[in-house]
Amino acid sequence: MNFRLVANCQGQSHKTVPEVDPSIQVLLLNFNLLSTILNSTLPQMDSLKMLSLGKQLGGSLYVGERAFQNVASLTFLDLGGNMNVTLHPTAFAGLTKLEVLLLDVNGFDEKVLERRYFQDLLSLKRLDLSGNHIQRLRPDPTFQQLGRLSFLQLKLNRIEKICGDDLQNLRGRHLSLLDLSSNRLLYRDTCTNPFQNITLGTLDISSNPWNVMQVEQFFTSLSGTQIKNLKMQHSGGIGSSFGFRNLKDILASTFSGLHDSSTFSLDMSHGFLNELVPSVFSGFPDLQVLLLRSNQITEIHDGAFISLNQLRVLDLSNNLLGELYTKALQSLRSSPLQSLILKSNHIGTVQQDALIGLDFLQFLDLQDNALSQVPKGKLSSLRHLMLGQNRIRDAWGIEHLSQNLTHLDFSSNRLSDLGQLWVQLGKIPSLVFLNLSSNHLSRCFRVHEGPRYLRELDLSHNSLADVWKGGKCVGIFHHLERLTVLNLSAGSLRALPEGLFQGLVSLQTLDLSENLLPLLPEDVFLGLQSLHTLSLRGNPMMTLSPSIFQPLVLLWTLDLQELALLCHCELAGLQTWLQSNSVALKRSVAGIPCFLTTPPFTQVSLSWFLHSNCNEW
Ligand SMILES: *[C@@H]1O[C@H](CO)[C@@H](O)[C@H](O)[C@H]1NC(C)=O
Ligand SMILES: *[C@@H]1O[C@H](CO)[C@@H](O)[C@H](O)[C@H]1NC(C)=O
Ligand SMILES: *[C@@H]1O[C@H](CO)[C@@H](O)[C@H](O)[C@H]1NC(C)=O
Ligand SMILES: *[C@@H]1O[C@H](CO)[C@@H](O)[C@H](O)[C@H]1NC(C)=O
Ligand SMILES: *[C@@H]1O[C@H](CO)[C@@H](O)[C@H](O)[C@H]1NC(C)=O
Ligand SMILES: *[C@@H]1O[C@H](CO)[C@@H](O)[C@H](O)[C@H]1NC(C)=O
Repeated sequence: MNFRLVANCQGQSHKTVPEVDPSIQVLLLNFNLLSTILNSTLPQMDSLKMLSLGKQLGGSLYVGERAFQNVASLTFLDLGGNMNVTLHPTAFAGLTKLEVLLLDVNGFDEKVLERRYFQDLLSLKRLDLSGNHIQRLRPDPTFQQLGRLSFLQLKLNRIEKICGDDLQNLRGRHLSLLDLSSNRLLYRDTCTNPFQNITLGTLDISSNPWNVMQVEQFFTSLSGTQIKNLKMQHSGGIGSSFGFRNLKDILASTFSGLHDSSTFSLDMSHGFLNELVPSVFSGFPDLQVLLLRSNQITEIHDGAFISLNQLRVLDLSNNLLGELYTKALQSLRSSPLQSLILKSNHIGTVQQDALIGLDFLQFLDLQDNALSQVPKGKLSSLRHLMLGQNRIRDAWGIEHLSQNLTHLDFSSNRLSDLGQLWVQLGKIPSLVFLNLSSNHLSRCFRVHEGPRYLRELDLSHNSLADVWKGGKCVGIFHHLERLTVLNLSAGSLRALPEGLFQGLVSLQTLDLSENLLPLLPEDVFLGLQSLHTLSLRGNPMMTLSPSIFQPLVLLWTLDLQELALLCHCELAGLQTWLQSNSVALKRSVAGIPCFLTTPPFTQVSLSWFLHSNCNEW
């Protein structure tokens, strides 16, 4: 944003509006001491589009008669966070271009919606009344003229019900967002549909105290109302996971009233759902996204997902599932499910046929469970498989699960034999990304052709020291012509065998940091014609010859921090090479550090040492 168009006067203890260039477009006056806004408070500013007067620190704010008459071009007005605001009936008069009005945390009760304050705001799209003391939602007749009003935010108020004609002045409207979260909704069965002739983009009724019965009655009354996205997070009164509270889990009847609502997504995350009973979601024949994260789900009954014939995304992460039974997912075989997220449960067993017939599944996340083997199944479309943080010892059977995988995350498991792994992964030619970080890889007896089209391979945090002992498996990377990133960081490597990186013609990034390499073989980087980023950080190297970098014609970033280089005039060659090849060093300001070999044995910068001690430099 152009600075001359913005006046930032926030937090400057102003009691009146300071003098500003009248041609500015944005005036920020948050955190000052204004206590009244009268029609003379703001100077004539015809270009002003955005005005924020949030969080004045004086304790109360009076907004007087035609307070904004001099800034009639405003499209955005923020009065939020003023705790105790009093409005003159014509406070907002004349703001016909205003699109966004923020009145959150202003101490208003329901009268703010009932006294025609907004009648001139013909362009209004968004009205934020969150965090006030509103107890009922009955917008006055002037709302009929606000034809563009689409985002109505009423979070954190005290609304107990919306009933019958309450919203009659919004009829004929599509509301993109009606946020009624964190209110006191407790539905009464005498209410009729408040959303007659209103369609809803997102209806957020999260964090309300009602129970399953009341919610059911509410939904029954809504029959036929279009609700594209329904959010019911943090519904503490729903779900049986705390038996002693005698609360009930959701049933098919809970949502049956929404059968004709064309609901596309349902979010019931962060609740106390415990069991998913048969047909529980049958009220949502059009549902494509179902989010049930962070509940206490222990059991999915036979047919729980029946009639979700359009479902594409199912997120069951952070629940208490211990087994994945065939019956649980069977009813999804007729749906176009693409993404199944089962991360962070306790799944130790996946039944034989649980993962078959999901012919459209592309993304399966089983991270952070208790699996001891690759689950059986057949998922022909699967592309991304996340198996990180389990207890898997080998990859047997993975090629049966899917032959078309491109991304496999196997990090933080108990894999130990790299050679064996290569045999198994060699059967998945489509693999391009492989994460084997934090396993126990420490063995490799024979080299096999592995996943030959890999582009990124993370082998960090393993115990590779013994892998290349005795000349075994030196060719493990040789066929990886397309590999661009190889991470061998923190692998306890004490030596690199000659020719280890041979054939890696596409390699761009090589991370050898945090190993135990005291030196590098002379030809180690031969043929790495594409390498531009190399890290040797944190290895105990006492000297380093520039000739090993000679083959790296494209080298651009080199990390030589935390080595054990000893200050010596022979390192002049390294310094010269670095300068003449314009290689950027990580943390280049300090240059390369080295340790003095004479008292005080401290660390100094190599270039300083060379200048002060070496004649030819
Ligand atoms: C400005 O406000 C004062 C009261 O504060 C009122 O008497 C006056 O009529 C208002 N002027 C206009 C132009 O609305
Ligand atoms: C709000 O401000 C008015 C005017 O300063 C004052 O009379 C009233 O007591 C305040 N109300 C609260 C709840 O602080
Ligand atoms: C619904 O609203 C539209 C648009 O304002 C109007 O034409 C229609 O008559 C209304 N229908 C009912 C049943 O009120
Ligand atoms: C998966 O791979 C197999 C064998 O390579 C191939 O025949 C099949 O068409 C692929 N399926 C999909 C959905 O891409
Ligand atoms: C591999 O997994 C580890 C552990 O989950 C993670 O920290 C790392 O970023 C992953 N590597 C890549 C390249 O995504
Ligand atoms: C290699 O892995 C280590 C440890 O997981 C990580 O800190 C580092 O950023 C990775 N290097 C690259 C180039 O991704």
